[in-house]
Amino acid sequence: MIKKAVLPVAGFGTRFLPASKATPKEMLPIIDKPLVQYAVEEAIDIGIEEIIFITSDDKFSIKKHFERNEKLEQRLVENDKEDFVDKLNPKIFEGITFHYVNQEEQNGLGDAVLKAESLINGDAFALLLPDDLFFSKNSCLSQLSSIFLSTNASTIAVNKIDKENIHKYGVIKPGKEKNEAILIDDIIEKPSIEDAPSDIAVCGRYILTATIFEHLKKIESDKSGEIQLTDAIKSLLSEEKVYAKIYDGEKFDCGSKMGFVHATIALALRDKSISQDIHKIIKEII
Ligand code: UTP
Repeated sequence: MIKKAVLPVAGFGTRFLPASKATPKEMLPIIDKPLVQYAVEEAIDIGIEEIIFITSDDKFSIKKHFERNEKLEQRLVENDKEDFVDKLNPKIFEGITFHYVNQEEQNGLGDAVLKAESLINGDAFALLLPDDLFFSKNSCLSQLSSIFLSTNASTIAVNKIDKENIHKYGVIKPGKEKNEAILIDDIIEKPSIEDAPSDIAVCGRYILTATIFEHLKKIESDKSGEIQLTDAIKSLLSEEKVYAKIYDGEKFDCGSKMGFVHATIALALRDKSISQDIHKIIKEII
């Protein structure tokens, strides 16, 4: 069983400036819950016991969000608003350990993951990018976990992407497929349409063996000075099998404005306390 999850949250969030100037992008809410909490809940749901945030000095609000706030709790109790206390401290957070590791310089996702090495201590681990939001009956991480349990190999979530957007993603060359586990023959970071080996791109959930750290250490920075996780996975292929699973469910890319608004509308229409009004508002606007 996978017990540890890494959540890199140290990025600049450039696409959300100026909102992300003082508030980390990962703390932006979809309705009433910050993006990062959706990912933490998805991790805990598959049995994760330790959450490792890779963060930066100025993102203290993430730590504050996962700590108790006894003063606020007391005030809520005094005002007969106990329901909100449960929202502040969801039962599933009980017994979970939260770690915070600093990424001094934003040298890319690969560099952020490498910062978790000493806490991972040789175990396979889950990696969740909180700006990708997934909704499905069987969560994205749980779909990966099923394959990991039968293969004991790194397994990454993928989905099909329109050709014109393929240059924004890590793209796999699929090999043999067995019981929904696609063996990865090759993987290329941000290929041109001509060079893309398929239309199947990596999305923000992974289960990785600790061997990835040795490969992350070998990878050189790309033109923009970032260490790319995709390049380390490509290098890992020379040593271990890596599988991909086509994610079965709904996905919102909340790192982009379009995906963020899409997720907000979709969830608002599902929230019983506001959905009727939101329907009305949307009709009026259209
Ligand atoms: P993104 O590229 O989507 O996030 O990285 P970003 O860099 O913050 O956003 P833009 O492109 O500037 O708008 C995916 C995840 O990896 C983390 C981010 O915080 C995000 O959760 N990340 C990225 C790090 O932790 N460190 C890095 O050096 C880069």
